[in-house]
Amino acid sequence: NKPITTKIIKNMKGAEKISMLTAYDYSMAKLVDRAGIDMILVGDSLGNVMLGFDNTTHVTMSDMLHHTKSVARGAEHCMVVADMPFLSCHLGVYEAVKNAGALISEGNAGAVKLEGGTEVCEIIKAITDAGIPVVGHLGLTPQSVNQLGGFGVQAKTQDAADKLLEDAKAVEAAGAFCLVLECIPAELAKKVTDSLSIPTIGIGAGSDCDGQVLVLHDMLGMFDDYIPSFVKQFAQVGKEITAGVTSYISEVKNGSFPVLKK
Ligand code: KIV
Ligand code: NA
Repeated sequence: NKPITTKIIKNMKGAEKISMLTAYDYSMAKLVDRAGIDMILVGDSLGNVMLGFDNTTHVTMSDMLHHTKSVARGAEHCMVVADMPFLSCHLGVYEAVKNAGALISEGNAGAVKLEGGTEVCEIIKAITDAGIPVVGHLGLTPQSVNQLGGFGVQAKTQDAADKLLEDAKAVEAAGAFCLVLECIPAELAKKVTDSLSIPTIGIGAGSDCDGQVLVLHDMLGMFDDYIPSFVKQFAQVGKEITAGVTSYISEVKNGSFPVLKK
């Protein structure tokens, strides 16, 4: 049961689809890893899912380190990718490499992910040159929500699609070993996938990407504050938890739990 490396992920392109899910803590990471996932993303979506914020701009390096350490202790086989949070790579190359390095050396991640295209390529190159594998992220980039004006499908015009393809090529050239494509038209995701030699991992980007990623709590049916249209619920864990807790409460109230041992 050898750990998954960047080389293994790269070689999966065209051979086997890559499975990725988010996880934010030790016990969930352990369950997801045991099921045989290829990659766990410690997404800054933890701001929404774990911390109750309404977007990811409130997530700090300290939040990311805390959750990444926890996940890394539970993940034995899969690759752990940690998100670089809001502004952690926009205050110069020095800060960016330092922050990425902390997610590896303190957080125990195997790679970092950062949002953006040509404008962050200098940063991607510097982090890669420091020996840290980088995952790119294009399309809907939630850290820019205040600029994008919402969470809808991106790159719908021809100009925006051309720009995204150009960004994808630049991110690959800068050294990224794989690329997340979030909420873009399926035809564009296919075009990007066919144009790159590194694997693409889609979320709300159709079925032609080299892999898929979802937020764990969404696909397990644990988080229904907001369910994006591209999410499939593979389980109803939220209902199970509520049912279990309801039974516990009633048995405590009526005295049937605990049972007296004689
Ligand atoms: O933070 C996150 O969960 C992500 C995925 C949705 C790709 O970035
Ligand atoms: Na993210």
